[in-house]
Amino acid sequence: MAEKYAPLLDAGENLSREALSALQLERMRATLAHAYANSRHYRAAFDAAGVAPGDLKTLGDLAKFPCTTKADLRANYPFGFFAVPREEVVRVHASSGTTGKPTVVGYTKKDIETWSSVVARSIRAAGGRPGMKVHVAYGYGLFTGGLGAHYGAEALGCTVIPMSGGQTEKQVQLIQDFEPDIIMVTPSYMLAILDEFRRLGLDPRKSSLKIGIFGAEPWTDAMRREIEDAFAIDAVDIYGLSEVMGPGVANECVETKDGLTIWEDHFYPEILDPETGAVLPDGELGELVFTSLTKEAMPIIRYRTRDLTRLLPGSARVMRRMERISGRTDDMMIIRGVNVFPTQIEEQILKESALSPHYLLEITRPGRMDELKVIVEQRDGATAAEIAAATKGLKHHIKTMIGISTAIEIAPPGGVERSGGKAKRIRDLRNK
Ligand code: DLL
Repeated sequence: MAEKYAPLLDAGENLSREALSALQLERMRATLAHAYANSRHYRAAFDAAGVAPGDLKTLGDLAKFPCTTKADLRANYPFGFFAVPREEVVRVHASSGTTGKPTVVGYTKKDIETWSSVVARSIRAAGGRPGMKVHVAYGYGLFTGGLGAHYGAEALGCTVIPMSGGQTEKQVQLIQDFEPDIIMVTPSYMLAILDEFRRLGLDPRKSSLKIGIFGAEPWTDAMRREIEDAFAIDAVDIYGLSEVMGPGVANECVETKDGLTIWEDHFYPEILDPETGAVLPDGELGELVFTSLTKEAMPIIRYRTRDLTRLLPGSARVMRRMERISGRTDDMMIIRGVNVFPTQIEEQILKESALSPHYLLEITRPGRMDELKVIVEQRDGATAAEIAAATKGLKHHIKTMIGISTAIEIAPPGGVERSGGKAKRIRDLRNK
């Protein structure tokens, strides 16, 4: 399907590797100087580490500078991380997090323009073009998904349908009536929309949708195939996080669908060993760390995302790619000594045609050892014999591919709770 989309590049995307590196160095220097001069946090952190912005002579020198974590942002709650007078901050967003106070992020007018331009670029990379209609079903509000997608689609010259998350029946009605070309939504909520199409007796393959831009949570290539087949669309991956900007830090190019191109003229990536903090070479799996290169209100230096991936050479673009995020360090389960991410289980589930992509992982500790139960919905219409075979197959595949024994519980269609935004895949009952 990809041949339809001849890539359309902006000036930043068109730089040679040498020009890009030179631009990165110039912007990194300016960012470090700005952070040091205008942020209490960075001045104290650089001083404590004995480094100054002038110590950066090459891009590799960034490794001398201290990393930033979510705890640093929390310690400066709500507005202490801003490096410009509060009056110059035209917007704030916040991410809820599971415990404690949210982390607050701020944007100047120029930051909003930059953000919009990288989201516009992301939509173009996905095959979107000016004049197309974009249905935004990421949540609007403090979450960066809705407004980030919205401003980017407008900047590209699209007609935006700001639906936000939830009201699944209405989502389907508007897709039917307004005939959008593109949908931007979490992959898990796209599945809820799919259920609704089927419940209403509508053929999702006949909808107007051509492209889906899915992110905000981990998903797999197996899930991509599932969604692409169900809707007859191209499904591409969009990545981002509020602390760094929001959606649009990296995006897959529809012509290759081989991982996400990092918009390296604005966000400088590194991969660290999560244990030691050492910088790892391209190609190795580790924790993704970002330094913003153009942000004003909240420059971010070496932010530890907790997301695990590896850096890959450019393919459809000069800029480097990152592999699809395999998981967050926070979501890693350790089951009898084996590290497991929900995406690994997802891959195995989707090998079984009698099972649906709706699942939940329950961890318990009945004795001394952790046990994992996979609660997964059967597909509508699967026979008892097919389900029995799928259960056996799934247990076997998880054992041989991942190396752990699991209990499998089959839920009826609709038996696993749907998400309205980011899916919650793990139910941890160990301390209950
Ligand atoms: O989720 C921003 C976003 C909105 C990205 C819409 C894409 C689409 P936060 O709420 O701050 O921001 O959560 C950021 O979500 O560190 C990852 O763990 C996860 N995440 C985001 N995109 C992806 C993706 C938004 N494509 C956190 N694949 C990140 C896997 C993702 N995980």
